[in-house]
Amino acid sequence: MNCAERLVSHFGSQAEVARALKLDRAVVSNWVKSGYIPARWAVEVEAVTEGAITALEVLNEATLRRPVRVKSRGEDDNKLAFATPGSDAMNAFLPTKRIQSFHPPQRTLMGPGPTEIHPRVLTTMSQPAIGYLDPVFVDMMEELKSLLRYVYQTKNPLTFPVSGPGSVGMEYCFVNMVAPGDKVIVMRNGVFGGRQLENVERCGGVAVVIDHEWGMPCDPQRLEDALKANPDSKIVSFVHAETSTGCLSDAKSLVEVAHKYGALTIVDAVTSLGGCPVLVDEWGVDAIYSASQKCLSCTPGLSPVSFSDRVVERVRQRKDKVHSWFMDMNLLSSYWGNTNRTYHHTAPTNSLFALHEALLLIREETLQDCWARHRRHHVALKAGLEAMGLKFLVAEECQIPQMNAVRVPEGVDEAEVRKRLLNEFNLEIGAGLGPLAGKIWRFGIMGYSCRPDNVMLCLSALGSVLQDMGYPVHVGEAEGAAHGAYAAMHAHAAQQKKRVA
Ligand SMILES: Cc1ncc(COP(=O)(O)O)c(C=O)c1O
Repeated sequence: MNCAERLVSHFGSQAEVARALKLDRAVVSNWVKSGYIPARWAVEVEAVTEGAITALEVLNEATLRRPVRVKSRGEDDNKLAFATPGSDAMNAFLPTKRIQSFHPPQRTLMGPGPTEIHPRVLTTMSQPAIGYLDPVFVDMMEELKSLLRYVYQTKNPLTFPVSGPGSVGMEYCFVNMVAPGDKVIVMRNGVFGGRQLENVERCGGVAVVIDHEWGMPCDPQRLEDALKANPDSKIVSFVHAETSTGCLSDAKSLVEVAHKYGALTIVDAVTSLGGCPVLVDEWGVDAIYSASQKCLSCTPGLSPVSFSDRVVERVRQRKDKVHSWFMDMNLLSSYWGNTNRTYHHTAPTNSLFALHEALLLIREETLQDCWARHRRHHVALKAGLEAMGLKFLVAEECQIPQMNAVRVPEGVDEAEVRKRLLNEFNLEIGAGLGPLAGKIWRFGIMGYSCRPDNVMLCLSALGSVLQDMGYPVHVGEAEGAAHGAYAAMHAHAAQQKKRVA
């Protein structure tokens, strides 16, 4: 029942409502017909019903039915306050296209990010705005930092989300840690290792690049050789989960080698965080960055970072000024550190509410179960894709569960397949980047997108499109293989449970 109907039911008749509110009956009848009570009556309705219908309920309903239009003052008043041009002159700047409110379609997101967002996170994000120094917000920031320490598995005090996408977190690490002339070893095995190299060069660092074939993991032995040849290297950087190829590197071994030669490490965990183990303290990672829109399944635009005390001290000791005001760790710590918070920049408050909720969801699921979920659906998806005859780009032992890259079969128009998946099934998958453009598809099962219904939709949609385009797949086989994989995993888990009991 809408508020107008509830009001009539509360008083027994439209006439009684009209009497209680001292209105003409026709007005009340109009409310019932239009299905809402205009916002200006909200407070009175709450008063006459003694709170049985709250002002907020009336306002919410009225705003939905008839959004509030903010009226400007009359033209004459404006002339007094500002020297404004006439409305004809201003209309010359109006968009030529008629623009309406934007309503995105409901898509299934199975590309390399962004992912679908849990309804709880979306709801939290749409809560009323509050100030970034509001005491309530400041308390929330502390919780957010502690939740981030949990997903990063670290006790690093300086763990917080930088305002900006993963690329900003990446830049934040390099611009603070690389001073002009510093030698940095960059291990590159895909697009994002290349971005790290760009950062070193733009910070004035001297880069030593260890190039790997795309699709191969970063090799600890090659790192050791490079460090022996360049003992003055200050930093080693690499991408833990290279999104462009779906290849996972052994971060623990790489950090171990770097430390053996006295170098600090910068690790890209944009795609790995939340989807597979990232153990900052156990591995001894010095600086790490990620992004909110991958396995954390939050809105894009935040980049969680974490720094060891060694890094904080190194940045504090820098003789030159960090070459970015916005990203200077020494300044930004005044907002995110443990001291009294002061203004640094206007934090994206509603996005931060959302990240808090997204991390809370992981905390409730537990990190181990979250990793296990990504692995389980990877195994099922892989069984289905392979049953379809598709081949993974990288070897089994270094496949990232949440980022599955498969080769496009000979003769198949890969872009057409993606287009049809989007148009016919509302399903987004990723294309190849750089030298792999046109050669691979990337299937992301990250965060809230990592669900059995998505895996099954993806397999049947892909099978149907490929068959329609003349590629010899047997529709149904992929789904059968995925179901088989799920069944085998469930049976195995049940057996394990029995053994423990
Ligand atoms: C491994 C990796 N690093 C960095 C980035 C950059 O993150 P963003 O697009 O949020 O700036 C991405 C984005 O996909 C990534 O996959």
